[in-house]
Amino acid sequence: MTDLRTWLDRVEGFGELRHVRGAHWDTELGAIAELSYQRPNPKAMLFEDIADYPTGRVLTGSTGSARRLGLTLGLGDDLDDASLVAALRGKPSTWARTASEFPTETVTDSPLLANVVDGKDVDLLSLPVPRWHAGDGGRYIGTGCLVVTQDPATKDINGGCYRMEVVDEGRSATINAVPGKHGAQHVQRWFERYGKAPVVVSFGHHPVLLVTGGTEVPTGISELEYAGAILGERVPVLLGEHTGLPIPAGSEVAIEGWLRPDLMRDEGPFGEWTGYYSGKRRPAPALEITRLYHRDDPILLGAPPGKPPHDYSYMRTAMKSAMIEDALVGAGVPGVRGAWAHEAGGGRLFIAVSIEHRYAGHARQVGHLAAQLPAAAYMNRFVVVVDDDIDVANLHEVVWAMCTRCDPKRDIDIIDGTWGSKLDPMLVEGAPPYNSRAVIDACRPFERRATFPAVSTGDPDYLESVLNKWAEVLAP
Ligand SMILES: Cc1cc2nc3c(=O)[nH]c(=O)nc-3n(C[C@H](O)[C@H](O)[C@H](O)COP(=O)(O)O)c2cc1C
Repeated sequence: MTDLRTWLDRVEGFGELRHVRGAHWDTELGAIAELSYQRPNPKAMLFEDIADYPTGRVLTGSTGSARRLGLTLGLGDDLDDASLVAALRGKPSTWARTASEFPTETVTDSPLLANVVDGKDVDLLSLPVPRWHAGDGGRYIGTGCLVVTQDPATKDINGGCYRMEVVDEGRSATINAVPGKHGAQHVQRWFERYGKAPVVVSFGHHPVLLVTGGTEVPTGISELEYAGAILGERVPVLLGEHTGLPIPAGSEVAIEGWLRPDLMRDEGPFGEWTGYYSGKRRPAPALEITRLYHRDDPILLGAPPGKPPHDYSYMRTAMKSAMIEDALVGAGVPGVRGAWAHEAGGGRLFIAVSIEHRYAGHARQVGHLAAQLPAAAYMNRFVVVVDDDIDVANLHEVVWAMCTRCDPKRDIDIIDGTWGSKLDPMLVEGAPPYNSRAVIDACRPFERRATFPAVSTGDPDYLESVLNKWAEVLAP
C-alpha cells in the first residue's frame, strides 16, 4: 500500500478519481484544479496527455475528502467528515510514539530505477511541471514533494514538504524551506560542518508522504517512520548512490544532489496558502542535482496552495486539529474538549479550542499554550477559546461566542514577537518575519458562569420532538 498507483486504484474503485486529458501545463491545469477545490465534494484529478508532454502525468486533490484522507491515513475509505475527525482523535500522538517501531526497509530494486539520468543530462522540464497560478514566477515541480535531509550529528532523517521551482532551464530547482523548519535546520548544520548539504527529493508518492512531510511531525522523528506507523508497515527505500539518503522506493520521480551556501537562484513569487502571492522574486538555495530517477510515464504529486479552500487545506485542517488537541491533552491541561484549525485560515491562522471551563485562568492557559505549541506556533494569528457548548469546527458558532462572551478590552491578550513568515501578506517588505497573535477568551467569565444569561435556543429534546411533529413544514 506504499505506492501511489495502488492508492490510485483504490480511489478509482470508490469513484473519487477524475481523468483529465489534454490540459495545458501553463496555468490551465492549475485553473482546473483550483475550480475543482471550490466546488462541493472535489475529486482527485489525474491529468494525462498534458500539452507538449506525451508521457508524464500530474495528480491534484489527493487528500481533499474524508474518504481519500481516510484511505491515505489507513483509517478506512468509507468515512465522512465527522467520522474522520473521530477516527483521528488521539492518533498523531500514537503515531509519534510508535514511529520508531517502523524503521524504513532498505531494498535494492524498484520501478523508480527504470530511468536513471545523471548530472549534466538532467532536465526536470522533461516532466510536465505546471505553472500553477498566472502570477507565479515559474514552474513549480515541488508542491506535494518530500525533501529528505539528515542531521549531520544525530543522523536523524527528516522529510519536509517545501516548495520547489525549476530553474536553470530544468537543470536545477530551488528549495524554499522557511528558517526554523527541520529541513532548513539540517541544511544549516551541514553547511556549518561540511560546506554543503546532501538532499533527496521525491516528487510523486503515496499521499501519506505529503501528509507527513507537510505537517509538523515532532522534531527528531523521521516522517518516513511516522508514515510507517500510520500505514502499519515499514516504508521501503532505496539508498541514494550519491548521498546515501533514503529515497522512497514507491516514488514516481526522485532526485538527489547537494545544496551549497553560494548556489542561490531567484525564485517566486508563488500563490501561497494564505491566498496571496508570496512577495517579490528573491534568492533561494538551488540544488545541484547529481541524479534524476523516474518510473515510466511518471506521476507528479501536485498540491498547489491558494486562497482556501485549496489543494491540501482539508488535510491540513484535519491533521492540525488532531495534533493540536493531542498536544494540549498531552501537556496535561484538563478539560480540553476539541480543537479546530480552520480552513479559512489555511489551518494555521485561526485556531479554536473548546474546554470544559474548570477554574479561573483555565481559558487563558489553554489559549496561550495553543498559540505556542510546536504544532501551531508557525504563522498562527488568532486562538479563540470557547466553552464546550460551542462546536469548534463551526465558524458561525465560534464567532457567535466571540461576539457574546468576550469583552475585547479584558479578554484579548496580544503576544508579540512570535513566529511569523515572509509569506505573511501583512509583513512589510524587508522586515524580520515576526508576527503577533491574539488569544481570545470567548468563554463565559468563570466567576459568572452560574449567572450568565441563558442561551435562548430551545431545549434540544423539546426541539427534537417539535421537529418530529412538524417534519413536513420543516423539510429542506
Ligand atoms: C503542499 C505544501 C507546501 C508547503 N510549502 C512549504 C514551503 O515552501 N516552505 C516551508 O517552509 N513549508 C512549506 N510547507 C509546510 C511544511 O511542509 C510543514 O511546515 C512541515 O511541517 C515542514 O516539515 P518540518 O517540520 O520537518 O520542517 C508546505 C506544506 C505543504 C503541504
